Amino acid sequence: MRIHPSLLSADFANLQRDIEAIPSSDGLHLDVMDYHFVPNLTFGLPVVEAIRTITDHHIDMHLMIEDPDRWAPAYAEAGCQSVTFHVEACKAPVRLARELRSLGARASMGLKPQTDIAPFEDLLPELDMILLMTVEPGFGGQKFLDTMLPKVRRTRELVKKTGQDIWIQVDGGVSESTIDQCIEAGADVFVAGSAVFGADDPDAMIRQLRARAEELGGHCH
Ligand code: DX5
Ligand code: ZN
Repeated sequence: MRIHPSLLSADFANLQRDIEAIPSSDGLHLDVMDYHFVPNLTFGLPVVEAIRTITDHHIDMHLMIEDPDRWAPAYAEAGCQSVTFHVEACKAPVRLARELRSLGARASMGLKPQTDIAPFEDLLPELDMILLMTVEPGFGGQKFLDTMLPKVRRTRELVKKTGQDIWIQVDGGVSESTIDQCIEAGADVFVAGSAVFGADDPDAMIRQLRARAEELGGHCH
């Protein structure tokens, strides 16, 4: 059970301060947006490389960009432990996943809310994580889409069939009030942006979310 705070809700003028404020995090979720795949723009490789130099945290890249086949490998080369590309934008997911793994990163595939998991069953063994969006990608602070829960359940079933330890990450609107449903549906990695950085004590919120995940997950999974 892992809690990955999304730096999208951190203070971009004080990234180092905000990263140092969350030592309990299991991974820093970094959202790259390019104005094309999503209607928003954040940061790219130079900022990620700068973050890499100031922290030993597991870096969990979430690339909401066009042409990840071309741009994703550089994030693995930069030393990020996990790289998520979106299948809707990817030309050759198996080739890209293999390339990411060969560069030493965990390979992860992201799905927007309207993209089903079923067509990708055969390529799950190529992956280390599936990211299921639980809001439309592009912005933090949106309302959790509980209509995504059946997809989380179906993904957990397909992962079980592989017999492999493939993480299932939920991203968007995850908070104290929605995490239970995600745990029960079978997620084991929880991205939380506004819930963590909007809390009075962000690090305490991470510990609280993880305690809940461990408590409930123990008998759900
Ligand atoms: C949205 C991003 C998320 C976002 C989550 O497109 O992928 O990672 O930061 O923010 P919250 O937790 O506020 O929904
Ligand atoms: Zn994200």
